[in-house]
Amino acid sequence: MLKTLIIFSSRDGQTREIAAAIASEIKHIYPCDIVNILHASHIEWENYDRVLIGASIRYGRFHPAVAKFVANNLPALRERISGFFSVNLTARKPEKRTPQTNVYTRKFLLSTPWEPDCCAVFAGALRYPRYSWFDRITIQFIMRITGGETNASKEVEYTDWQQVRRFAQDFAALSG
Ligand SMILES: Cc1cc2nc3c(=O)[nH]c(=O)nc-3n(C[C@H](O)[C@H](O)[C@H](O)COP(=O)(O)O)c2cc1C
Repeated sequence: MLKTLIIFSSRDGQTREIAAAIASEIKHIYPCDIVNILHASHIEWENYDRVLIGASIRYGRFHPAVAKFVANNLPALRERISGFFSVNLTARKPEKRTPQTNVYTRKFLLSTPWEPDCCAVFAGALRYPRYSWFDRITIQFIMRITGGETNASKEVEYTDWQQVRRFAQDFAALSG
């Protein structure tokens, strides 16, 4: 039986957790392999008939490995049912949580030759105590000007897990 490939690009683990939640939601229908994009240079595509890519934003950008993976695997992505999700803190505001209203996601989708069959934006996590001094100060500044959490002793998870499960079901319902 062919499997679903879930590729994630994650710095602090939130996108990896979302990838795992999606896999656990659909694995009774589609067995999944979850692979870090940094270790995805040789995919055995013949094992997979579905593919999902999830990536987080850091300082306004996805990891360069995301565009590179898409460029290197474009025919394989086009031949399969495919989906994309992005993870960022701008999406903590519901009005910035769709592929059209989330600037990073919209820009990515406009710039890539890949046309995923479904797409979602999830709010990520804010985990001040885990950040370096520089990152903490910078994120705190951004949170101050955008009306977010500024208490640097806090960890806040904004991810709407129900939205994640719904997206997983929508992805599973796609037919080729
Ligand atoms: C150093 C740093 C920079 C970030 N830059 C942005 C940003 O520019 N825009 C945004 O919406 N979120 C930004 N975030 C929030 C992350 O996207 C969010 O924390 C997400 O959960 C990270 O997912 P990951 O753990 O899978 O990498 C940033 C987070 C960190 C730590």
